[in-house]
Amino acid sequence: MHADIFIVDYGSQYTLLIERRLKEQGCSATIVQADSFDSLENKTCRGIILSGSPDSLSEEKTSAQLPTWLWSANIPVLGICYGLHLLTKEFGGLVEKGEYREYGKSTIFFSLDNNQTGKKFLGLLEHKQDVWMSHGDHVALVGPDFDCIAKTKEGAVAAIAHKSRPMLGVQFHPEVFHTNNGFILLKNFAQEVCGIASSTEKSEPIPYLLQEIKGQVGDKKVLLAVSGGVDSTVAAALLTKALGGSQVTCVLVDHGLMRKNERLQVEQSFSHLGIPLKAIDESEIFLKKLEGIKDPETKRKIVGKTFIESFENFTKKFGPFDFLGQGTLFPDIIESACFGAKAKVIKSHHNVGGLPKRLQLKLVEPLRFMFKDEVRAIGKELNLPKEMMARHPFPGPGLAIRIVGEITKEKINLLQEADDIFISSLKDSGYYDKIWQAGAILLPVKSVGVMGDDRTYEWTCVLRAVHAVDAMTAEVGELPLNFLTQVASQIVRKVEGINRVLYDITSKPPATIEWE
Ligand code: XMP
Repeated sequence: MHADIFIVDYGSQYTLLIERRLKEQGCSATIVQADSFDSLENKTCRGIILSGSPDSLSEEKTSAQLPTWLWSANIPVLGICYGLHLLTKEFGGLVEKGEYREYGKSTIFFSLDNNQTGKKFLGLLEHKQDVWMSHGDHVALVGPDFDCIAKTKEGAVAAIAHKSRPMLGVQFHPEVFHTNNGFILLKNFAQEVCGIASSTEKSEPIPYLLQEIKGQVGDKKVLLAVSGGVDSTVAAALLTKALGGSQVTCVLVDHGLMRKNERLQVEQSFSHLGIPLKAIDESEIFLKKLEGIKDPETKRKIVGKTFIESFENFTKKFGPFDFLGQGTLFPDIIESACFGAKAKVIKSHHNVGGLPKRLQLKLVEPLRFMFKDEVRAIGKELNLPKEMMARHPFPGPGLAIRIVGEITKEKINLLQEADDIFISSLKDSGYYDKIWQAGAILLPVKSVGVMGDDRTYEWTCVLRAVHAVDAMTAEVGELPLNFLTQVASQIVRKVEGINRVLYDITSKPPATIEWE
């Protein structure tokens, strides 16, 4: 086993992303599980990265330590998040549990004084940097051999560097797209601190992704499930670019729970793109299986299972295929708890969680380490139409998880109409592009109203609009009240069966974006 850089994995959600970032810059990188750290003692390498972890060093029971041979070997080390905490603890500093878990963007300020390793790490970058944080513990006291080389606005430790050795620790995640210059920081670590020569100057995700797809799929056949959303459209464009049209078959399974006229729109968009698409109407099958089901997780599982059955039938007719392609993103994987033993399942995303063995299809998911805005940037570079790339996300189970409780055809029609009025109004008013995601939800609640001289007793519809970066957190979209009241009045006037409209003003957390 040889690598320029070994990444020691303590169970972070981001370890594979670190590996990818290094490989994108032509650096050979290999992941080693933390319990095999000692196996690296006699290996040749230029540097070691210590990953993050769901574990906490502020808890007494966690007694992870770094191997002592590491210090005599004098290998450059970069500790990321938990890796920073390990370095801190090892060198006489203090790690404490924060009052809150910090998650999201943060601005940090470097102050390097005469720290040589810190200078190499920052290189020509500005002292003020926007970074991505995700941690519970923080460094309360830096060990005596280290300098604090960066702090947040609030004065918390954001990065440390050893006074004389090539050792660094960062609280933020340089591997994550939202750390604006994360790629350059990792490059500086590899090139300037570890002395590894690089073959590329700039992050080139598309050539890397195309090469990865070719390497994984070879000359085999791919069945790609598309929905018309940003993720599966970018996945379709990447897969067809990497493999050519004859190896990739795109299928749209219409489960009867799409938005109004959505299937037609997707067919037209793919036809404009020149990517062949087969749309199959499976709505009767899905709706039959969902009949009488009220529980959200059961609905999600049924939709997931029925999708697989549809692919299976499609494969029998048009196959054989070797791979099932999907536009799964990193947040889907995190929320479905496929990473990290301690992660909790929030919702079972329909497209995460593996395929039944009988299907004999392997998964190819080129976007699985990406966030939505990263995918949009790739779509833009691939020259995909702006309207397609600006589309709001829409969940795979569709309106099944926006009709709270039991699903009926009547409810689907009502919700499609209400949703269409809301989305069209957002587009006409220019708010659509300022909102990250919007949609209507139908509640299983009837209330009394008055229309003309008549009493009504009809369903309730909720409008939801949120701002988000990647859907892991979301804030309420601040739409003007007069806009909302106009939408509400249109819905109540035009959609017979809905007589009351509410606006959801809850952020995520504590709520989620979808209601089920
Ligand atoms: P929540 O409701 O978990 O949603 O806050 C976060 C984001 O994920 C979308 N979502 C899904 N997307 N399959 C998908 O492809 C799913 O099963 C699924 N469930 C939620 C949701 O629309 C939001 O953008």
